[in-house]
Amino acid sequence: MDFPTNFAWGAATAAYQIEGAAYEDGKGESIWDVFSHTPGRVLHGHTGDVACDHYHRYAQDVQLMRQMGLQAYRFSVSWPRVLPTGTGAVNEKGLAFYDRLVDTLLAAGIEPWVTLFHWDLPQGVQERGGWLNREIVEWFADYTAVVADRLGDRVKRWMTLNEPQCFISLSLETGYMAPAWKMGLRDCATAGHHALLAHGRCAQVLRARCKVPPVIGWAPVGFCKAPATDSPADLAAARTAMWAMGGRTLWNTVWWTDPVFLGHYPEEGLRLLGDDAPRVREGDMEAIHQVPDFCGVNTYCADYVRAGDDGQPLPVPLKPGHPASLMGGITGDALYWISRFAHERYGKPIVITENGMADTHWVSTDGHVHDPDRIDQITRYLAGLAAAIREGVPVEGYFHWSLMDNFEWCKGYTNRFGLIHVDYATLKRTPKDSADFYRRVIESHGAILPEMTPGEARSFGGKSIV
Ligand code: BGC
Repeated sequence: MDFPTNFAWGAATAAYQIEGAAYEDGKGESIWDVFSHTPGRVLHGHTGDVACDHYHRYAQDVQLMRQMGLQAYRFSVSWPRVLPTGTGAVNEKGLAFYDRLVDTLLAAGIEPWVTLFHWDLPQGVQERGGWLNREIVEWFADYTAVVADRLGDRVKRWMTLNEPQCFISLSLETGYMAPAWKMGLRDCATAGHHALLAHGRCAQVLRARCKVPPVIGWAPVGFCKAPATDSPADLAAARTAMWAMGGRTLWNTVWWTDPVFLGHYPEEGLRLLGDDAPRVREGDMEAIHQVPDFCGVNTYCADYVRAGDDGQPLPVPLKPGHPASLMGGITGDALYWISRFAHERYGKPIVITENGMADTHWVSTDGHVHDPDRIDQITRYLAGLAAAIREGVPVEGYFHWSLMDNFEWCKGYTNRFGLIHVDYATLKRTPKDSADFYRRVIESHGAILPEMTPGEARSFGGKSIV
């Protein structure tokens, strides 16, 4: 059996993407409420006002998770639901929702894995400068304390931040996501430094206040670079690319993970950013260096590289017509390489905090939702992950993104990522074929998956894809 006994078979969601009840029970506005209500921001003007209505239907959703045999469920707490303006008064009704959710999960035998921040910053915090204002670090610590005091007697697994690369670079630099600011690199690096400090303070608060000793991680984007061939030169090039800055940008893995796991910014990054690098105060790097208990990664696709004549990595694009979902190429060895490289660098157990694909499947005339592509995606990626485990990489869990179709940020409800289909008009849930497949994977503890090498996991019809 490849998967360790205590391996967590899970699925993930995030508050704004599924909860709905955006203006109910005292919840404050988040930047995503404001953004999605701004004309032209989200495709077709979709908003998260109702989303999957999970806020009201959570008990039904937990039952569906139970039927799927899920052992772990990763969800996020909405900061403005708990603290409507981000600081100060606690909204008891909001906090009580998460209390009920945790109890319902535990009663169903499903372990809650809680993310403290998945992008829905309180608008009140945004108006005080958001991530650019250093005070956010203590505001986030205070919010963490409220949640830890309430849930920390039952919740053991925590993630501090989801994908700082996105809520800094895509939100503050390119302006693509809420709050759609377009700042220069220097301000983004400052905001990012505050986000890293917030991770550190959050971990400290969880460790100090949770009654059940917490197991802490986070969920950054794990941009995966993989070698195009088995040659040692390509392997070395992929490793170099994996931990490279990729230019004067924060859109990479290493800028974020090195400070948290190693206690310093990567030298290459400091050199490239030059004057735009954040002003680091005394004690900052120690505060950031709250080493997580596990290394979470959100990984969907691999980028292939080969060694150029000088050994430096060169991109190898996927061939035209390569199998892809709406999320990008299907690259079955992605979880193998990200786990291997991340464990090699940081020496911590790996958790795949997100992985999945997007489609537009609908309910067929037979009443079922047929998604053979997702079944194949899960098969390949988990077979790749199993190959890493066989080589000795400690992997503690896999969270499929997503439990159910949901609000896909700027793409609204168009891209469907769920194991469970949601009819947004009636809010009816229909488990897809992939939900049943995943149930069988879990039930067999991965034994029904084919044994594959990473190369086989990424080949189609026996042919290499690059
Ligand atoms: C995010 C999710 C998102 C998913 C698919 C990740 O970047 O954490 O919130 O829905 O990818 O795009």
